[in-house]
Amino acid sequence: MTDHPQDDRVLIFDTTLRDGEQSPGATMTHDEKLEIAGMLDEMGVDIIEAGFPIASEGDFRAVKEIAERSQQAVICGLARANPKDIDRCWEAVKHGARPRIHTFIGTSPLHRAIPDLSQDEMAERIHETVTHARNLCDNVQWSPMDATRTEWDYLKRVVGIAINAGATTINIPDTVGYTAPVESADLIRRLIDEVPGADEIVFATHCHNDLGMATANALAAVEGGARQIECTINGLGERAGNTALEEVVMALKVRNDILPWNTRVDSTRIMNISRRVATVSGFPVQYNKAIVGKNAFAHESGIHQDGMLKNAETFEIMRPEDIGLTETNIVMGKHSGRAALRSKLKELGYELAENQLGDVFYRFKELADRKKEVYDEDLIALVHAGTDGESDRLQVKHLRVVCGTEGPQTATLTMEIDGAETSTEATGDGPVDATFNAVKQLFPHDAHLQLYQVHAVTGGTDAQATVSVRMEEEGRIVTGQSADTDTVVASAKAYVHALNRLLVRREKSGGDVAEVSYKDVS
Ligand code: KIV
Ligand code: ZN
Repeated sequence: MTDHPQDDRVLIFDTTLRDGEQSPGATMTHDEKLEIAGMLDEMGVDIIEAGFPIASEGDFRAVKEIAERSQQAVICGLARANPKDIDRCWEAVKHGARPRIHTFIGTSPLHRAIPDLSQDEMAERIHETVTHARNLCDNVQWSPMDATRTEWDYLKRVVGIAINAGATTINIPDTVGYTAPVESADLIRRLIDEVPGADEIVFATHCHNDLGMATANALAAVEGGARQIECTINGLGERAGNTALEEVVMALKVRNDILPWNTRVDSTRIMNISRRVATVSGFPVQYNKAIVGKNAFAHESGIHQDGMLKNAETFEIMRPEDIGLTETNIVMGKHSGRAALRSKLKELGYELAENQLGDVFYRFKELADRKKEVYDEDLIALVHAGTDGESDRLQVKHLRVVCGTEGPQTATLTMEIDGAETSTEATGDGPVDATFNAVKQLFPHDAHLQLYQVHAVTGGTDAQATVSVRMEEEGRIVTGQSADTDTVVASAKAYVHALNRLLVRREKSGGDVAEVSYKDVS
């Protein structure tokens, strides 16, 4: 099954849950992965790379459940070039309506040196593993990792071998973000022209953003003949990330005059999924990020505002509505009821179960008591504020911090730990440090803080702060988030959110953290 697109169609292959999630710190919970996959499927993504099934029991379960639930998208799992990986991948995807196995091996001289294979030995391995995958599944993607640094003759040879062995999609990864647009287009064009059988299969492009050219390189590859773009929401991914889905989708839409290819993606869902991925991954979107950054549609200078009022096209090449950005407006006050909240959340793209709605409503009322104007962004922050539900073993109950120009600051904290309340007082270098020290006194742990970030949700001194923390313990990395008008309270809750997630990870792995990375060669 080649899934061959028509000439004007480009398939969108999203790898937020695999390449994105494998970037250190971007770990998502099982439920979050299912939710993101559901959103990708609904917005019209053609192929979802749901994970790397051999990596861990958790990855396997997530890929399997996503495959079983998917309504339209092809669900794909990643496998290294060995039968064990490929079998595990097939086990995970086989119950889906449209499964795909994606197998790969590093083909550049640097990558060949790791398993210490000669060119011929690697060629043999490629033939065997693609044949093995194809015997299991009629939809097989093969990638020569680090293709853009692989010798041309060898690349041509191995692409031919993979096609011969039955690969239906050949993906050309620019693994280290090294290529440039002219070269990217040329490489695909030459492969299609020179490799026998290349016109029967789909070529894909997979670009990393180390030189800031991932989107340009992906679009150039399409000009060269690629008909599948691999990308992630918000450009999430290791190092500088991958091609951003929102950038390629909007570039193809806005500049269809010179980039005459279409996708099936409903662009009005971009903003919602962008916010959700930022929250669950703990990787906030930079303010001036193309398409989804907070400032992407903000026009603050006087000249811009004047022009915008006369004609929005003066400074805008796309409309905010095209990506699902509704105008920031004051939504509700403290007298608004549950039904109004439900309908406002629906408008923002959130359909919550009754118990979740009850919880958000309770926190909305608390917020409306403290904050004059509650904006859409405030509600979104409330929906995503860090708790994973009643199973949370640790909870912040009361916090009082005494600050002054002369330190140290003192935090008095009461927490509920496994149902029992306990209190302490701690000092620190600043209110957040004092608070984190207090948490550590009540719940001693060896996890260390890798990242602490604060963002104001809206303007004004009464704005809510969203706080993200990333913590690491014995190789397990988790993130926690929370939002509150009080930055220190939000910090305490985000820290405790991360600790709760760490406890879940500890229990699930039973102390075993030996997860496999796709970089581990075997
Ligand atoms: O960047 C890369 O080469 C990859 C492969 C596994 C496709 O992510
Ligand atoms: Zn990659």
